[in-house]
Amino acid sequence: MSNSSDDVYQHRQDQIVDFVFNQAVVDVFPDMIRRSVPGYETVIPMTGLIAARHAGAKGVVFDLGCSLGATTQAVLAHNSSPDLRIIGVDNAEAMIDGAQANNQDPRAQFVHSDIQDVDLTGANVVVLNFVLQFVPPDHRKSVLQKIHSGLAKDGLLIVSEKICHASPKMHTLFDETHLAWKKANGYSELEISQKRSALENVMQVDTEATHTQRLHSVGFSSNSQWYRCMNWASFLAWK
Ligand SMILES: C[S@@+](CC[C@H](N)C(=O)[O-])C[C@H]1O[C@@H](n2cnc3c(N)ncnc32)[C@H](O)[C@@H]1O
Repeated sequence: MSNSSDDVYQHRQDQIVDFVFNQAVVDVFPDMIRRSVPGYETVIPMTGLIAARHAGAKGVVFDLGCSLGATTQAVLAHNSSPDLRIIGVDNAEAMIDGAQANNQDPRAQFVHSDIQDVDLTGANVVVLNFVLQFVPPDHRKSVLQKIHSGLAKDGLLIVSEKICHASPKMHTLFDETHLAWKKANGYSELEISQKRSALENVMQVDTEATHTQRLHSVGFSSNSQWYRCMNWASFLAWK
């Protein structure tokens, strides 16, 4: 896995184009996500543990929007059964190539596809770690409907996201704290503002209530927020 430090927005760009998961991002991705997403280093191992336990010895797990396979690796690390199967899916070819190159475990396979086109029938666990926020808002419900219908009985969905706080005052406090945290992690004002502009059209976030109501509306029998750090949250939902 790449250890390069994130310099994608270090230099002033004449024109900021929409953020894409291209080779330049792939080359620095582990550093970028660790320094940009509060709680990433807790959420990934913990979702791996939750998924690994729930999948049991013969389970099938999907890691949708797997990037370089960090969640997949975390699931594998917590489940030693030779019959576990995990399928990582991503629509960025450079990500899937990187995930394949990182993985030595025959229980994992990586598929280059849009998550909306994957057959999830019989899945025991589906993980969406920081992915739904990149799916156009009017497609999110159908993605969740598809996951719900594909999951086996008692299947579990894990969804981690950046969220928008319902209280504007609290949202601003958390947002400003996030910027301060990124500065403390070594990003300059220029890097932070250029990346913000690049993400503006491609990453649209929902409130906690939107997430929980949508999970309920597509048929999940119960859901719960298990992790929260400012405007970053993770939810568990049972079929
Ligand atoms: C923030 S990264 C996810 C990080 C990864 N789950 C992890 O925890 O390390 C978002 C990923 O979702 C992928 N993605 C976004 N929309 C997608 C879609 N519709 N189908 C498949 N992959 C998608 C992107 O290519 C990117 O690799």
